[in-house]
Amino acid sequence: MEYFKFRRKHLYCEDVKVKDLADKYGTPLYVYSYRNILGRFNQLKKEFSRIRALICYSAKANSNLSVLKALIKEGAGLDIVSGGELYRAKRCGCPAKKIVYASVGKIEEEIKEAVNSGILMFNVESVPELERINHLAQKLKRKARVAIRINPDISPGTHKYITTGKKETKFGVEIDTAKRIFLNRNKYKSIVFSGIHIHIGSQITELAPFVKAIKKVNRLIGQLKEDNVRLEYLNIGGGLGIDYGIRPAKTAKEFAGAVMPLLKGTGLKIILEPGRFITGNAGILVSKVIYLKENSAKKFVVVDAAMNDFIRPSLYGAAHRIIPVRLRAMSHDLKAKQADVVGPVCESGDFLGKNVKISVGQGDYLAVLDTGAYGYSMASNYNSRLKPAEVLVKNNKAYLVTERQSYQDLVRKEIII
Ligand code: LLP
Repeated sequence: MEYFKFRRKHLYCEDVKVKDLADKYGTPLYVYSYRNILGRFNQLKKEFSRIRALICYSAKANSNLSVLKALIKEGAGLDIVSGGELYRAKRCGCPAKKIVYASVGKIEEEIKEAVNSGILMFNVESVPELERINHLAQKLKRKARVAIRINPDISPGTHKYITTGKKETKFGVEIDTAKRIFLNRNKYKSIVFSGIHIHIGSQITELAPFVKAIKKVNRLIGQLKEDNVRLEYLNIGGGLGIDYGIRPAKTAKEFAGAVMPLLKGTGLKIILEPGRFITGNAGILVSKVIYLKENSAKKFVVVDAAMNDFIRPSLYGAAHRIIPVRLRAMSHDLKAKQADVVGPVCESGDFLGKNVKISVGQGDYLAVLDTGAYGYSMASNYNSRLKPAEVLVKNNKAYLVTERQSYQDLVRKEIII
């Protein structure tokens, strides 16, 4: 996390002291580094510049409008999965021709909006979906461009909840089905078949699964060529893992080195959909220690952030480093202890870290690291807790990019009868 560094015992995000942000905006608080986000995007852009790949940042990882805007200004497109993400994409001026739309359950309204917006393409995940898009596009008197999402039946070696390229998962269609669709393409009068899409999973730290999957679709592309099916795009999805301080991940250069030779030969335009790689390391979640407590079995650091703010530990057993925002001389009661860092939510599954070695006192601020992706975007109001605020730091300036919710926000859409 090169943009989060200690200086004179204080954690900084770029040139801003994290403690000052917590004092000013309160906790729990997500803090992102602008330069880190753009830096990661540009690493990929540079490595894939020779084949002029289109990088469609996966909005679900961190869909804050200011974050999206920053990436769009830098030349990114967006990978979206819902009408809500399409709305966000438009709100921050993403060119429609740089939007790709995946999801196994696109509903009619979403399809119509996307067709009318003229997005680059749908990543289609089933035959019934293809039929529906064809039907709706015809009614709208438009053509819809699609890529067929292939499920290559490859194990990405990641958590089972974020494995998407295995047959048992709901994503994409099998290679044979895809072939059949392409060969029957004339049946779909309002569809322009422009490509193939894969996305095999998330937080993939090895290169072999990507290589295997691409090789598999390359075979399909070859066969389709023989059958005179002309394609324009190959979308290799996202999934590139990051270093959470436990297991090293691959760099953009290593990733490009492994996959580019396979992509060049296809003669197709290449799309990438990285999410976590771009924003994951670029954010922290700051929270305040409310109580230290212990029983005969365990020590607990009770903080004001919980599973509703950040669900990865509870949902995937994900381990994130947790550090104090200010390093203190270790007094007796602050001696490094192994403790579970837990939130106030009424579930034993509500923890941010298990057996964390940490020295803190009540009132101290802690930072959960590498929470820039799938952090705020997965936050909820469970336990009627307010969603936290988000701050984007650029050099020595901090911008509040999402206000903390209020109790009024919490009940805004509710009706008492
Ligand atoms: N493209 C598609 C079609 C996807 O479904 C995803 C993520 C991505 C791209 C971006 O994947 P990434 O580059 O970020 O790995 N909430 C989980 C991750 C779920 C990923 C869902 N799909 C987590 O916190 O680990």
